Amino acid sequence: MKPFLKWAGGKRWLVSRYSNFLCDDARRHIEPFLGSGAVFFYANPKCAVLSDVNEELICAYIQLKKNASSVRDALSIHHERHSSEYYYKVRSKCPIDPVERAARFIYLNRTCFNGLYRVNLKGVFNVPKGTKTQVVYDDEDFDGYTNALKGAKLTSCDFSDTISIAGEGDFLYVDPPYTVKHNNNNFLKYNERIFSWSDQKRLVECLADAAKRGAKILVSNADHKCIWDLYRSNMWNITSVERCSVLASSSKYRRNTTEVVISNYLDVSGNVVDTRF
Ligand SMILES: C[S@@+](CC[C@H](N)C(=O)[O-])C[C@H]1O[C@@H](n2cnc3c(N)ncnc32)[C@H](O)[C@@H]1O
Repeated sequence: MKPFLKWAGGKRWLVSRYSNFLCDDARRHIEPFLGSGAVFFYANPKCAVLSDVNEELICAYIQLKKNASSVRDALSIHHERHSSEYYYKVRSKCPIDPVERAARFIYLNRTCFNGLYRVNLKGVFNVPKGTKTQVVYDDEDFDGYTNALKGAKLTSCDFSDTISIAGEGDFLYVDPPYTVKHNNNNFLKYNERIFSWSDQKRLVECLADAAKRGAKILVSNADHKCIWDLYRSNMWNITSVERCSVLASSSKYRRNTTEVVISNYLDVSGNVVDTRF
């Protein structure tokens, strides 16, 4: 099924063109950089561990798992009341009730500029209103979200905590923010803290340990020399893949670019070479 969010760096394009790269017979599907969960929703695993450092995002997933009909009702109210004034009023509030919190998060995601998630230094969401007005879709399957999430454990935490549980029989899909060396630009401010180059180095160390424990790993990252250098070891195969950029605000900036996938079970042509499972 399709994700319920639009997300910077979302991987719908990856699953539509390269689904053969995914490992679909794992004991557990683990995603430590969940975002909109495009790979998770496509794979539809029975058992999953899903996490992201973004607490608001994880709250939305937990409420769709536990209280999807209440979230739908709260979203329908946002749908009816949506206007420019209403958007900024909702944006300025921080509801405590988890259902209201989840509905606010999904409402803002669907109506803000380009589905971006950006907060100021105090952690307050500050993306302006966009042009989209549809808050609940006619054919939207809220029960489907609940079913998909039934076997998923959801946590808000740093990637290292989630990767540390991965071992034999697990599939780890790893999609960090695309920081490259010497370039901590604004686009990478997903949260209050920038994902830095030292986080990229910390990530490779965590992944090497998980690979030694027997996990099958697929990483997405920027097609940049520093990433090829960072994963230069016998443990990893790295492959360039083409994608069409869909998040640019104007079609004149949308063009095909390349990214890389890095794996310990695919060869450089994307064929499975490790058949342990
Ligand atoms: C490229 S996005 C993931 C996109 C996702 N694969 C999708 O299809 O939508 C990267 C995610 O990493 C999260 N993130 C940033 N720093 C993190 C950290 N230190 N630990 C865990 N998650 C982090 C962000 O909140 C963001 O949701």
